[in-house]
Amino acid sequence: MKLKIAKLPGDGIGPEVVEQAVKAVDAVCRRFGHEATYSFGYVGAVAIDHCGDPYPDETHAICMDSDAVLFGAVGDPRFDNDPTAKVRPEQGLLAIRKKLGLFANLRPVETFKSLVGKSPLKTELVDGADFLCVRELTGGMYFGDRGRKDGGDTAFDTCIYSRFEIERILSLAFDYAMRRRRHLTVVDKANILETSRLWRQIAREMAPKYPEVEVDYMYVDNAAMQLIRCPKAFDVIVTENTFGDILTDEASCISGSMGLLASASVGAHTSLFEPIHGSYPQAAGKNIANPVAAILSAAMMFEYSFGLMEEGAAIRKAVSASIDKGIVTEDLAAGGKAYSTSEVGDWIAAAIES
Ligand code: IPM
Ligand code: MG
Repeated sequence: MKLKIAKLPGDGIGPEVVEQAVKAVDAVCRRFGHEATYSFGYVGAVAIDHCGDPYPDETHAICMDSDAVLFGAVGDPRFDNDPTAKVRPEQGLLAIRKKLGLFANLRPVETFKSLVGKSPLKTELVDGADFLCVRELTGGMYFGDRGRKDGGDTAFDTCIYSRFEIERILSLAFDYAMRRRRHLTVVDKANILETSRLWRQIAREMAPKYPEVEVDYMYVDNAAMQLIRCPKAFDVIVTENTFGDILTDEASCISGSMGLLASASVGAHTSLFEPIHGSYPQAAGKNIANPVAAILSAAMMFEYSFGLMEEGAAIRKAVSASIDKGIVTEDLAAGGKAYSTSEVGDWIAAAIES
């Protein structure tokens, strides 16, 4: 198969980890007889430096013309503490989500047997945890009206959702629940927020269409607690944009390192695959960042965008082997030998081919 891939490494450690994902993709292609071609696009702070726009039109054209997007990270400390900055790297990510219509963000949380001890949670709580967060990605406060008034001393952000937006994300979440253990948890704040009440109302309307799916409704504050109290109780979680942003960072610590979790953003146009960690500027250029999340994002790309399940499984198997054998970066080394980003990438690529 010919795979046309847009490569958007972005900022910070993005380029280093995406390079390792590319090695894994190329190894899969050699082993299974596919042909991958890559088109590079600027995004984030590097795109602002390049042309003043965090998601330039030329990058959008490349994404629209590709079968999948491999994304690194965006963010740069130069912008973080400057409330007057007119453009920010993060706007590039919001723009790509909106323009590609990526309304769903799928963040699977899995544990690796040999790493359960790395989790800040007790081993017996996390061992075997396996759930999928489905985060709505193009609505809510991220995209609602915002601004200042009273001469700048009052600020507002609006959380807004339409029936259409809620139905499409819920139906995707119900579908995933059907393919998994048939348990869906709808997370909201329906005791306070009107948008949450609409989510709950629509979920209740839709539930009879999926009689095999057991549906729970949980307030987000409680969900934040249950996630670390009893992560194994979850199968599929669906929630709005902001809640999903927060809960998925929290969930990432279950598996032991943020550097392990991959994600797929899917919707109307080309799907995008990205590690859930950020640009980690302190580590940029040091060849120490964990490339596993980016490499597992490439596995999700094979499975989701190309329907190549065996290829995705080959990547997952190589990643598990690297972790079991201790071929890991410093975040997971715990006193043992820490390998560099590129060494881990090379090892995994070789394992895919062998
Ligand atoms: C994420 C990130 C982004 C978000 C930022 C970088 C805009 O935190 O993908 O979770 O808030 O959605
Ligand atoms: Mg986030």
